[in-house]
Amino acid sequence: MTDHIDMSADEWDEKNFPRPDANEFDAVVERAISRRGFLSSVLAFGSGAAVMGTGLLSGTSAEAMAKGARFPFTPIDIQTDATVHVPEGYTWDVLVRWGDPLFSDAAGYDVNAGGGPVEGSDRVFGENTDGMETFSFRGRTILAINSEYTNRGTNLPSEQEGTPANAGDVRKLQNLQGVTVVEVAEGESGWSVVTDSPYNRRIHHNTPMKIVGPAAGHDLLKTDADPSGTESLGTLNNCGSGRTPWGTYLTCEENFNGYFGSTEEAQDQKPIQLDEGYGRYGIGPQGWGYDYHKWDARFDVSQNPHEPHRAGWVVEIDPTDPESTPVKHTGLGRFKHENAEVVLAPDGRVVVYMGDDERGEFMYRFVSNGVYAPGGSTEGLLDDGTLYAAKFNEDGTGEWLALTPETTGMDQAEILIFARMAGSAVGATTMDRPEWISANPHAVEAYCCLTNNKNRGIKPNAGGDETPVGGPNPRETNHYGQIVRWKPHGDDHAADTFDWDLYVMAGNPEVYSGNEYGGSENITPGNMFNSPDGMAFDENGLVWIQTDGDDSNEGDFAGMGNNQMLVGDPLTGEIARFMTGPNGCEVTGLCWSADRRTMFVGIQHPGGSWPDGSGLPRSSVITVKRDDGGIIG
Ligand code: FEO
Ligand code: CA
Ligand code: CA
Ligand code: CA
Repeated sequence: MTDHIDMSADEWDEKNFPRPDANEFDAVVERAISRRGFLSSVLAFGSGAAVMGTGLLSGTSAEAMAKGARFPFTPIDIQTDATVHVPEGYTWDVLVRWGDPLFSDAAGYDVNAGGGPVEGSDRVFGENTDGMETFSFRGRTILAINSEYTNRGTNLPSEQEGTPANAGDVRKLQNLQGVTVVEVAEGESGWSVVTDSPYNRRIHHNTPMKIVGPAAGHDLLKTDADPSGTESLGTLNNCGSGRTPWGTYLTCEENFNGYFGSTEEAQDQKPIQLDEGYGRYGIGPQGWGYDYHKWDARFDVSQNPHEPHRAGWVVEIDPTDPESTPVKHTGLGRFKHENAEVVLAPDGRVVVYMGDDERGEFMYRFVSNGVYAPGGSTEGLLDDGTLYAAKFNEDGTGEWLALTPETTGMDQAEILIFARMAGSAVGATTMDRPEWISANPHAVEAYCCLTNNKNRGIKPNAGGDETPVGGPNPRETNHYGQIVRWKPHGDDHAADTFDWDLYVMAGNPEVYSGNEYGGSENITPGNMFNSPDGMAFDENGLVWIQTDGDDSNEGDFAGMGNNQMLVGDPLTGEIARFMTGPNGCEVTGLCWSADRRTMFVGIQHPGGSWPDGSGLPRSSVITVKRDDGGIIG
């Protein structure tokens, strides 16, 4: 991502890689019809539960609604100020901030002092916290936490617009991103970092990685530095996360394209056509302003044209072994990964749900060939299998389309390296930016946040696939977002067909009363929000929703306030606001302590000077607890 002082990652991509904007007249007509059909079926239902369309859960909904909401707190109002708010009876506290030392030899690191030096920048908590997971190991609590991107301006304040002026500047930015593994402990005065824990570790843009799976060793992954195509350096733009049943962490590479550039053709704004994947994945000569390519040849595509193919993967990390080498799993496909939600099919096969967060791109599913057995070998369980892309039908059914040489005309390695093109080849449904996917632990169903898509019904995706209004993407120029969910047939996540509906359409019922931009029936002036992004089910079967939207509190977004975290009841459709973040922030990352009495929540790119009240705003992980020490999720 670029600094928030200029424009978002999406806006930058849009500006530099404008999509073709021609629309066929026939497609416009078709969209209008499908929109009318879909919305009438959704909005015809009168209750919060019935908003959820096809009535998957109609039997249990009425029963659950009769019992009343399951939320044990009084929902809070919107806020527009520069701090965090939680309901009465709950308390929040800062656990760790960008730049806090993980090791005593970095104790003097000071982000406020000129952004902090390069020395020690790989020994402190990374910037812009995102996906995270909790691991309990030998009585210890270990967090693995993504650091998605870095604000160049605040880290390089002496350089114009934060543009690196030397290799040291680049190295510092590289060090402050990636993943932090950190042991934390709860004492009398709350949770804190265990400085110098043997488990503390920084994984960043230069950490050695293994590349495994069907595409490993393919010519498209070979570079001069790694003629084997199996050993790469670093993990880039770590956004959402996941965890395996065998206790490892999955970190997901999202906007990796922005780090690459070219020292040739640097004045040309057009994507370089070194291979057809460059345009589809948004890799161009300028990059997004990190300017790594000018100081680190690995990121210069004119010298290393295959290096971008070695990013955009899901990476597995063992948080309990600080000596372990992270593993890039090519079996899970290459795209702008949001998170990786791992579930088991009834027969023990491993199923991984994944979204590609770009306008008009796809939702994916991987199903392993082998089965997971506790204590058994996990070799190949994230690589040997089949990748699928989702197709949603207007009638509330859907199917997973296998991406194979037969269905795509591509070879197996190309399918994985250029998964987006494989998805286009089979006619998968272009989506409104799939962000986090989470599976309900109490029902065989999964949910995906479709955050927003201003191009819906306006422009094709980067591969030229149309983005018609309809199905799970029912609104043209969708700036509020929605959450789709699906229930696999036969209660089997490995089944190839499913039923789907919309859990919620976000919207503003005060600005758009009576039309689809007012949101679904479970949206009220009291709980409205925009751009659902982070999402996680708790063990009670409630779904927590975090937002990354417009927090101007004006115009279409009036009454929505700062970005926030809400909780939803899958049975009744009710949604209540639990937390609001400081203005300017995105709320991202959520996990719980083993005893479920502490919730860890990420605050990314806050504004003002949160949380210290002086100096720079610092992205942080906070803890939230009940004052009575009760279970919180
Ligand atoms: Fe990094 Fe799609 O959020
Ligand atoms: Ca996100
Ligand atoms: Ca987002
Ligand atoms: Ca973000």
